Amino acid sequence: MTKLGVNIDHSATLRQARYRECLDNKEVIIEPNPIEIALLAEKAGADSITAHLREDRRHIVDADIYALREKITTKLNLEMACNENVLNVALDVVPDYVCLVPENRAEVTTEGGLDVITNYDKTKKVSDALTEKGVVVSIFIDPDEKQIEYAKKMNAPVIELHTGAYANAWGNKQKRLIELERLKRAAEFAKSIGLTVNSGHGINYQNVKELLGAFNFNELNIGHTIICRSLVVGIEKAVAEMKSLING
Ligand code: PXP
Repeated sequence: MTKLGVNIDHSATLRQARYRECLDNKEVIIEPNPIEIALLAEKAGADSITAHLREDRRHIVDADIYALREKITTKLNLEMACNENVLNVALDVVPDYVCLVPENRAEVTTEGGLDVITNYDKTKKVSDALTEKGVVVSIFIDPDEKQIEYAKKMNAPVIELHTGAYANAWGNKQKRLIELERLKRAAEFAKSIGLTVNSGHGINYQNVKELLGAFNFNELNIGHTIICRSLVVGIEKAVAEMKSLING
């Protein structure tokens, strides 16, 4: 059965919009609390909680990662770039999973998969350091056979396929089906060489069933759509609705 990882970054984005300067001030009621969101998501059936600690600490901050490690009872999936400063946090916290992603300062969100061919040495070094600590490393890549081969060569046991191009093609059936086929082929190839295959980015209530019809992913990492839906129905219902779509 496909698992659901709930990405809570956007709850932290809302918090930072008001309380960036006073996160340590005990007199202030800070809202929303991403840890509370994570605990409710778990209660509603999330199999793991994902948080991206960015180099610029735009949404999730170090204290969130430590609090998640202490409080959640499912798995903690830390998303991070190959950056020494964040790596030190990861080596200290020891999340269950780390997903290595690219990062650039101007982006609104992660824009593309990590290019593991160009960044092989740097990525392998970070991946090895985490693996040595017992962290299960996943690499976020585009659905491209060469990238998958390099991820495998790196000894990371898991890849997360970037579903953004597929999600962005919604409204253009021909393009969408091409992207879906690309994901299907890439996922089947990755599985055939022994990798565990997750996917994420842009997955929502509208496209999730078709995506899962193409390949039985191990886990989907979903953030934006669940946080948006939670504004209307609450986080528990938003997670439960997604779980029920995933479980058919
Ligand atoms: N997986 C990865 C690696 C990501 O970078 C993101 C975006 O932060 C997601 C999944 C979740 O994407 P979305 O918020 O569009 O569901």
